[in-house]
Amino acid sequence: MLFKALIRPALFRASVSDPEIAHHWLMNRMATLSHSQTALKIIEAANAYKSPVLERDVFGVHFPNPVGLAGGFDKNGIALPALAALGFGFIEAGTVTRYAQPGNARPRIFRLSEDNALINRMGFPNDGADAIHARLSTLPKPAIPIGWSIGKSKITPQEEAIEDYLYSLRKLYAFSDFFTINVSSPNTPGLRQLQDKEPLDRLLQAIVQETETIAQKTSSPAKAVLVKIAPDLTESQLDDVIEVCLNRNIRGIIATNTTLARTDLRQNSSESGGLSGRPLHRRSLEVIRYLSRHLENKIPIVGVGGIFGPDDARRTLDAGASLIQIYTSFIYEGPTIIKRINQHLAHS
Ligand SMILES: Cc1cc2nc3c(=O)[nH]c(=O)nc-3n(C[C@H](O)[C@H](O)[C@H](O)COP(=O)(O)O)c2cc1C
Repeated sequence: MLFKALIRPALFRASVSDPEIAHHWLMNRMATLSHSQTALKIIEAANAYKSPVLERDVFGVHFPNPVGLAGGFDKNGIALPALAALGFGFIEAGTVTRYAQPGNARPRIFRLSEDNALINRMGFPNDGADAIHARLSTLPKPAIPIGWSIGKSKITPQEEAIEDYLYSLRKLYAFSDFFTINVSSPNTPGLRQLQDKEPLDRLLQAIVQETETIAQKTSSPAKAVLVKIAPDLTESQLDDVIEVCLNRNIRGIIATNTTLARTDLRQNSSESGGLSGRPLHRRSLEVIRYLSRHLENKIPIVGVGGIFGPDDARRTLDAGASLIQIYTSFIYEGPTIIKRINQHLAHS
């Protein structure tokens, strides 16, 4: 209530020309709060909803609840403790790249308020794997699972993509409960081609092998590797992804990233980039149902795309997802959405 009545109007007004201003303002406050144990306790007491019925074990990781924060919100891992205190069951941090990079020119996020949607063409702005590694070494790790999303640096040629991913994986290995291989952002040229059968197979083979090598050296189980896919794949492309993921021991598929399609929109926008939020929900559900039918429970699915409340969350789980993630609804609805979804799931 407070968020929608006071905080959201102020944030949205203050950042009419560039919604990223609101995001950075919020993230900087959250980063400061992340260093205060007292503040974290107060945030948690006010927001988090806990119930044993919400707990689950998926791909070898224990989750206090199934509602996660989707990739891209805390790209540099500056505010993970405060975000965790809001009641998320897990956070996907990143997407991080081997090299620090500024991303595309601003503005690069656009609100489509009538549609409860966003268009973004961020292009993975982030501090790079080395700087993030250094930061994480000084911060306490939150008590919930943190997965790091890895992408390809813009300056890295396509044929050197594998080494680029491996570099970030090695750097962040100690700080991650699982990894997401992001091959589905529409804003890095060539990235989505890594979803094609052969390049995907080579990439995933190398990454899973690396986790096994590290596991052997450290005498610990190999960390789970997940793949995040685009909603714009055809059924035959989805079949290829499924085949590769099964062959390469991928432990989860995150469906979906933003879409290049512009269907189901009330508000016109000529901005390029990936569309997220409510208009994505129908397509993301279709992809989750397709994956669920063809995976036969062999690989768990993390459902993401336009989840705006308890009914959408329930529908996504019923479609075959074991966990869900939100991003755009967190912007529009504020942190209370996490508790509303969890309370509903605990009682249904
Ligand atoms: C501004 C913005 C930045 C994003 N950045 C990333 C990213 O860095 N990595 C990633 O995997 N997904 C990224 N995403 C996609 C989200 O993680 C999510 O897959 C997508 O927005 C659909 O979920 P939603 O409808 O709940 O927002 C981003 C989305 C938005 C709106």
